[in-house]
Amino acid sequence: MGGRHNGGGFEHEPVMIAEIVDVFAAVPTGVVVDATLGGGGHADAILRSRDDLSLVGLDQDPMALAAAADRLASHGERVRLVRCRFDRLAASLDDLSVANVVGVLFDLGVSSPQVDLPERGFSYRNDGPLDMRMDTDQELTAEVLVNQADGKELAAVIRRYGDERFASRIADAIVAARPVSGTAELAELVRRAIPAAARRRGGHPAKRTFQALRIAVNRELDVLEPALEQAIDRLLPSGRGAVLTYHSGEDRIVKAVLRAAEAVSPSPRGLPVELAPEGSIALIRRGGVTPTAEEKERNPRAASARLRVFEKLEIAA
Ligand SMILES: C[S@@+](CC[C@H](N)C(=O)[O-])C[C@H]1O[C@@H](n2cnc3c(N)ncnc32)[C@H](O)[C@@H]1O
Repeated sequence: MGGRHNGGGFEHEPVMIAEIVDVFAAVPTGVVVDATLGGGGHADAILRSRDDLSLVGLDQDPMALAAAADRLASHGERVRLVRCRFDRLAASLDDLSVANVVGVLFDLGVSSPQVDLPERGFSYRNDGPLDMRMDTDQELTAEVLVNQADGKELAAVIRRYGDERFASRIADAIVAARPVSGTAELAELVRRAIPAAARRRGGHPAKRTFQALRIAVNRELDVLEPALEQAIDRLLPSGRGAVLTYHSGEDRIVKAVLRAAEAVSPSPRGLPVELAPEGSIALIRRGGVTPTAEEKERNPRAASARLRVFEKLEIAA
């Protein structure tokens, strides 16, 4: 079940697949929303594990949706797919007349095919256009950011979303070299802007800058909080949510939203025990869980993953 799948050329090995299936093993019968459908690997595993669940799958990338449609075809009417950004989660459920759900999954960031296909412009290893859009109809591309953004703004993006110490040097090098015409040229500019001694640490020298530009182009962190809040709001009591994050910027936001929705803890004097206020959740395994060493070894995408799980509580009487 956890192996690589080639659905119409869309190869993406789902991260922590056994753990994700386990999250939804005991939720009530109903609808699960996969807010980041990708190639549909997690969705397929969830649907196979429980024949009383149906699925609404969201993705803003038409290529991912096409691959998922292909992969999930055997589940027939149990699956409904919507092309949208996930901060339209509540609106999409409304459009489908789905009031509440029993599960929600966010597997954040990009998929392997998005990164591996040079023409999508996410790859620092291959030459491609400066694109990096998940939603291929969106106006803002990496090309616009790289060639038109103010140098200070560019440095701030690279620092904030890439945790890159040499953000100012990199931004200066980009501004001096404009117009930059492709991902290979950008990767080489970044490599040369980082001092030689620092280049030997932390993987490919352009990795952090590419991550930062990708996050900015897709406004990945801006839409996360509203999407999670909508997901928590639509969950039925005993319904569960699972969020897979891949870097500290994502994880910080997820942690903050989940903490804010957490139930008030029981009274320290024991009596009376405060009941959960409407809409609150309990965190399952505070701090989250990470993949096994074996999975991290086998699947490089899993190396930085953290899974946070929560359950919607019964409403106080
Ligand atoms: C890591 S992949 C998901 C892989 C999937 N779990 C699987 O098993 O194949 C993330 C997917 O979410 C999509 N995505 C990321 N952010 C999104 C957002 N804000 N709205 C909608 N889709 C998003 C990406 O286009 C990508 O296809």
